Amino acid sequence: MIIVIDGPAGSGKSSTAREIADRLNIGFLDSGALYRTITFLWLKAGKPEKAGFFENLPEHDLKVEYRDQIFHVQANGEDITKEIRKHEVASNVSEIASHPEARAFVNGFMRRLVDNSTYIADGRDLGTAVFPDADLKFYMDASIKERAKRRFDEMDDPDVTLQDVEKNLKSRDQKDRNRKADPLKQADDAVVIDTTGKTFDEQVAEMISIIDEKLKLN
Ligand code: CDP
Repeated sequence: MIIVIDGPAGSGKSSTAREIADRLNIGFLDSGALYRTITFLWLKAGKPEKAGFFENLPEHDLKVEYRDQIFHVQANGEDITKEIRKHEVASNVSEIASHPEARAFVNGFMRRLVDNSTYIADGRDLGTAVFPDADLKFYMDASIKERAKRRFDEMDDPDVTLQDVEKNLKSRDQKDRNRKADPLKQADDAVVIDTTGKTFDEQVAEMISIIDEKLKLN
């Protein structure tokens, strides 16, 4: 069984999905972390020519594990959980994620991972392209000001200002919504959750009650 949450950067998808996973005792899958991982690998390799880089993605040994509210990522034996959150990765990820070859690799990885168990996953195109038959789809959104403030408050980088974060979110939103390959889009059958002005507990409670009602997981 799979529950998906799509929406723009900073709308609260990932923190909400983690909390729901813990409360319902199901798995959590952070699809953005996988795009960040391949972006990190591309930067680490010295920004090689993309076609060859994408072709060799299956050679990398990638492991993911959700534990203690953190989505841990290991690449070729190295723990890169923190590295993939850095500003340099954020500045390059939407460009890398716009390539169909990158999307095909990440989609295959995700579909294999969730086979046979219950997961909640967050991303941009999960309800439309990756898991069109998901058991339940949410689309989360909030105003750009509120999303930038939330993301800035959770960052621990003295060199980055609120304006930098807002600029990065706007530019990623623009790229994510307008790319040809599986853009950020609300699925027709998604339940829309606007989190502007809502507390974290309120949005989690609202979504859990929808899950309870529709899926009867407990
Ligand atoms: O956490 P945040 O909202 O900042 O972004 P993320 O979920 O870590 O995703 C990083 C980037 O990966 C996004 O801006 C998208 O460009 C890309 N992405 C995507 O294209 N498709 C997904 N299903 C998830 C992420």
